[in-house]
Amino acid sequence: MTVDSDEIVIDVHLTTQDPAVVREEIRNGLLSSPRVLPTKYLYDDRGTELFEQICKLPEYYQTRTEFQILATYADRIVACSNANELVELGSGAATKTRVLLDAMDRADQLNYYVPFDVSEGIVRRVSQELSEEYTDLHIHGVVGDFLAHLEHIPDGGKRLVVFLGGTIGNLDDVVGPAFLSSVNEEMASGDYFLLSVQFVTEVNRLEAAYNDSKGVTAEFNKNMISVMQKLVRADFDPDAFDHVARYNHADSRIEIFLRSNKRQTVMFQDLDLKLALEEGEEIRTEISTKYDRKRVEHLLANAKFELVEWYADSEELLGLALAKKP
Ligand code: AVJ
Repeated sequence: MTVDSDEIVIDVHLTTQDPAVVREEIRNGLLSSPRVLPTKYLYDDRGTELFEQICKLPEYYQTRTEFQILATYADRIVACSNANELVELGSGAATKTRVLLDAMDRADQLNYYVPFDVSEGIVRRVSQELSEEYTDLHIHGVVGDFLAHLEHIPDGGKRLVVFLGGTIGNLDDVVGPAFLSSVNEEMASGDYFLLSVQFVTEVNRLEAAYNDSKGVTAEFNKNMISVMQKLVRADFDPDAFDHVARYNHADSRIEIFLRSNKRQTVMFQDLDLKLALEEGEEIRTEISTKYDRKRVEHLLANAKFELVEWYADSEELLGLALAKKP
């Protein structure tokens, strides 16, 4: 634990991750069918910065839509939850968070903020910025993997736990439900959970959001290659791969791949692995599932949450489900 100042505490849990486990996970992914790489590695400091740029792209409608929904309903969400502590999983740059913090401040119930993210740089930056912007706000940052380190969320007051951006869509049918159950287990009875989901919409709109004309999403995806170069000493060449993002109708999700643009062998020194790839062969780096309300209601119910209210934009592009732990 590092105590940075009177108002900021930051815990780093990623450094406790066993390198052998990390290697196993990457190795297994590369050798499975389809080949995959863990999505969380897209979000190093550079990746987090690129994702912030994605959020401002005209094609990426999700961020501004969510911002608008939050701006409309923040006071209501805060009144409903009566929380004095905001816990944000996958907090990133915490741009939208300020809307909720402001509403808590207006209601005179803002005491604690817990940004939880895999990127240490962004947790430190956000903690610093917010402690300057909000006087008397106690910040307890957690640098960790929300699939592994949820139990390190500090005990606090009456909590509103938020998972924004539609990030639940990154988790598949097995991991997603398990994650929601562990969030529920970490919460106290009467705590609230705000879950954001991206809804199914026209394929053209969905595919454009992940194939922007400036190529920022392509760069974001290819950043995985740089991360692998450092993390497991891979001689991965970014120019030998193309960014591919397409909608999978059967599974209602955008799938993002790195596609080998030639026949090649990639050496992963720390994995003791020589990966032979054909021209056109793909490695999946991310899924982004699109939901409908029924599906989300089932997910929440299975994780023992009680749905309280839905908030959405008029086009039903994005929804926020406010739920409660009974
Ligand atoms: C942060 C997971 C919500 O799936 O829309 C955006 C990530 N990847 N463009 C999404 C992302 C490429 C984003 N989430």
